Amino acid sequence: MTAAPEPRVARFAELSGDELRSRLRDALTLYVTAMNYPKGTAEQRAPMWLAHMLRIGWRCVAAFDTDDRMAGIAYGYQGAPGQWWHEQVKRGVTERHGLDVAERWMDDYFELTELHVRPDTQGQGIGGELVRRLVAGTPNAHVLLSTPEGPSRAWNLYRKLSFTDVLRDYQFAGDPRPFGVLGRALPLTDPN
Ligand SMILES: CC(C)(COP(=O)(O)OP(=O)(O)OC[C@H]1O[C@@H](n2cnc3c(N)ncnc32)[C@H](O)[C@@H]1OP(=O)(O)O)[C@@H](O)C(=O)NCCC(=O)NCCS
Repeated sequence: MTAAPEPRVARFAELSGDELRSRLRDALTLYVTAMNYPKGTAEQRAPMWLAHMLRIGWRCVAAFDTDDRMAGIAYGYQGAPGQWWHEQVKRGVTERHGLDVAERWMDDYFELTELHVRPDTQGQGIGGELVRRLVAGTPNAHVLLSTPEGPSRAWNLYRKLSFTDVLRDYQFAGDPRPFGVLGRALPLTDPN
């Protein structure tokens, strides 16, 4: 396997809730640009990002370029019963693979909720480094995430980081797109 690209970014930093709140506009602009969503999505998402900051185990890591502009962002928190995503995924895994499998993945996990890199700085290893730094500080046994079915750069990255299939072609309530739910055990050791 080839070595991971060396990130060409000025610095990575863990952000506190207050720090992300003060940079929320930049972060949401980055998110909307990376996902190619309509501009209004940023305003819609703001309350959700603010609410997520209050969850147990919430952590956020960002990358900044030499002009101190945000080049990438990742955050997540401890998954728990009662959270919308947890309930959706648990139902899907239980239906398809049984309760034992669902509990094995979901009893103690960190949900990697958002991961985005500015399009002009993608493909330089920033995404991989954000994931590594984010999960390095979590005490959980597993990390789980969902991503629209690929192929995509996100899928390439998750496979390189040894994420395996938990659920494929899964439809979350209210979203017609098929998603993959991927997971792996922690700690995340370097795949190379
Ligand atoms: C997905 C995303 C966050 C990845 O960020 P990135 O900085 O481009 O990621 P990296 O540079 O670390 O990795 C991406 C590429 O490096 C490759 N790579 C990463 N680690 C590697 C390794 N150890 N060895 C070889 N290649 C590696 C990946 O396979 C991928 O290859 P590709 O560019 O040929 O497709 C970014 O592309 C993005 O923001 N996409 C749009 C938003 C999105 O889809 N977010 C995820 C939603 S769940």
